[in-house]
Amino acid sequence: HPPGFQMGENSGLRAANCRAKGGAPGFKVAILGAAGGIGQPLALLMKINPLVSVLHLYDVVNTPGVTADISHMDTSAVVRGFLGPQQLDNALSGMDLVIIPAGVPRKPGMTRDDLFKINAGIVKTLCEGVSRCCPNAIVNLISNPVNSTVPIAAEVFKKAGTYDPKRLLGVTMLDVVRANTFVAEVLGLDPREVDVPVVGGHAGVTILPLLSQVKPPSSFTPKEIDYLTDRIQNGGTEVVEAKAGTGSATLSMAYAAVKFADACLRGLRGDSGVIECAFVASPVTELPFFASKVRLGRTGAEEIYPLGPLNEYERAGLEKAKKELAASIEKGVSFIRK
Ligand code: NAD
Ligand code: LMR
Repeated sequence: HPPGFQMGENSGLRAANCRAKGGAPGFKVAILGAAGGIGQPLALLMKINPLVSVLHLYDVVNTPGVTADISHMDTSAVVRGFLGPQQLDNALSGMDLVIIPAGVPRKPGMTRDDLFKINAGIVKTLCEGVSRCCPNAIVNLISNPVNSTVPIAAEVFKKAGTYDPKRLLGVTMLDVVRANTFVAEVLGLDPREVDVPVVGGHAGVTILPLLSQVKPPSSFTPKEIDYLTDRIQNGGTEVVEAKAGTGSATLSMAYAAVKFADACLRGLRGDSGVIECAFVASPVTELPFFASKVRLGRTGAEEIYPLGPLNEYERAGLEKAKKELAASIEKGVSFIRK
């Protein structure tokens, strides 16, 4: 197995061999930023996922402890830890799915774009590793500002000659998770029965919930529409303020990340009808990237669905969203091209 570290090494190897012989479906998943606020609960939830056979935990700090801890869970995935840039390539070699929550989170008063300065470079370095070591992996990018980090990743992959737009997905699942929760509250339904498409991007006005397309079909008063749109667009800020300087959403994000990663793995396995919202290279607007529903398959985002009929409120929201998104995308692209 690749250098890095694994607790109870011999038994781990036996377990891995045993599963390989049994032919059980299992994917190799790496988490980059695995010791962080999102990374730790994400690692825990991925260790429970039966579609995962190998789980690599990479960070620049604290992975020995997190790896030892997670590896004691009696679920089947074999866990290996990797610490620091010298071990990045080993963490990434052979991976089917790479989930990236590495980077700094917001404090009260900051926008996601204020994180660009630090996180752009982190995402660049990690994506260069993906190009070198697992150019065919699906990438789930969580690090903010997603509206710029996805274009950064695309440019890094283009430069390396490994870019396949179907395999690069910005994670906007938390917006959908929040929208389902808040809409269910208003409608008095179980959130599991509610499906709210959220399109656009992942920051402020670029987060565009399509309340006219909620399932089950529902109507809202203008007051409810204002309340829900505002709460969904500012859900991240609600958590940042409540955490009062100690970080942003981590637990709901880990839940959302696993929901999305699981959908990607089911797609990779060949399941049909796996459809989720994600921020991808997209033909649905004149912008190069846009979030909308996509169908996940063996090769990533195999189909990108159009936005469907929008009402006047949503059309106005779309114009605002596109304006901000265009600037954020351009900022990401020129970070690499400059
Ligand atoms: P955190 O500070 O708790 O954890 C980040 C981790 O990244 C740390 O463990 C840190 O050591 C690690 N890291 C830093 N540089 C690294 C590098 N070069 N390589 C590997 N790891 C590195 O932050 P968090 O709360 O986990 O948030 C992480 C990111 O996710 C932030 O940018 C945040 O804004 C973003 N986020 C996105 C969404 C979304 O919906 N897409 C939701 C919540 C948070
Ligand atoms: C979120 O939506 O919770 C994340 O993007 C983190 C943040 O900064 O709000």
